[in-house]
Parts: sequence; C-alpha cells; structure tokens
Amino acid sequence: MSIAVYPGSFDPVTYGHIDMIRRAAAAFDSLVIGVLINYTKKPLFDIPERIEMLKEVTADLPNVKITSFEGLVVDFCKQQKAKTIIRGVRSFSDFEFEMIMAQTNRKLDPEIDTFFLTTSPEYSYVSSSSVRELLTFDGDITAFVPESVKKRIYKKLEDKTEK
Ligand code: PNS
Repeated sequence: MSIAVYPGSFDPVTYGHIDMIRRAAAAFDSLVIGVLINYTKKPLFDIPERIEMLKEVTADLPNVKITSFEGLVVDFCKQQKAKTIIRGVRSFSDFEFEMIMAQTNRKLDPEIDTFFLTTSPEYSYVSSSSVRELLTFDGDITAFVPESVKKRIYKKLEDKTEK
C-alpha cells in the first residue's frame, strides 16, 4: 500500500492546499495530512480547529487521514509507515526553500522521498499567510478559502472582538 504524508501548518487550509490534497489522494492509496504543532508561530487557529477544518474540506475523500505531529517530518513519516512526503510548489522562491527542506529530509532518512506537485495556476497566489494578512486589513478572502473555512474565520474574529 502506498502511503504519503502531506505536512504543513494549514493555518488556515486554503484552496491551494485542497488542490494538493485532492491530487495526492488520487495518486496514493492513503494520504496522511500532518498538521505541525509549532510553538514558535503565533497562530490564527489552534491545532484541533485546523484539523476540524481539514476534515470538513476532505469529507468526501475516504483515503485521507488527518492528524497533528510534533518534531521532525521524517519521524512522523516513519510512524505513519509513509515513504513519501508531498509538498506543493507555487513559484521559484517556493522551490528554493522546498529543495533545501527535501534534501535535508533526504539526508535525515534516505528511504523517504519528497514528491513536488506544482500548484494549479489558478491557485498560484494563494497562501495561508496572505489570508491572515488580508484579515488584518478587512480584505476579501473569498478567492482563498472555501465557504466553511470562511465562516469559521469570521466566527473566530467575532469571538475575539467580543472578548
Ligand atoms: O505549511 P508550512 O508551514 O510551509 O509547512 C512547513 C513544514 C511543516 C512542512 C516544515 O516546517 C516541517 O516539516 N517541519 C517539521 C520539522 C522538520 O522536519 N524539519 C526538517 C526539514 S528542514
């Protein structure tokens, strides 16, 4: 059985991520989405919220599993019995960073390979950080995230302002 891991922050999940997930889920028997528990970033959503949103947007994909992980992605892969890491590449600048990460991971564990998928052109400008930036300035995020995620974001912001 071919198992791949798609690691990331997913804060929040975007149309770009969903594009990757659908294509990777079609190419592997099983796709494990790993949400990194990263203590250094100041997140918009906590880990259980990110997992819930990912579950909502992948509900129709039976071979996709979502879980969080801490530490090295290669260790997470071993734990999940996965030999492949999936990463999306939108641009040359992404590629530079991704290349270093893939080679580092390969050095750490030569049995685990990184497969790059180039983002579909319609999502090449989409990123979670752009979504967070737009929210800071009341920008429209409709083109970036599905309706279910958008609703959660606005609910979150409402709850924050009420506090
Ligand atoms: O969505 P992101 O923030 O671009 O994802 C980055 C991620 C989670 C894939 C990367 O930071 C990661 O794998 N972190 C775990 C630590 C690790 O294994 N680092 C080794 C490669 S340098």
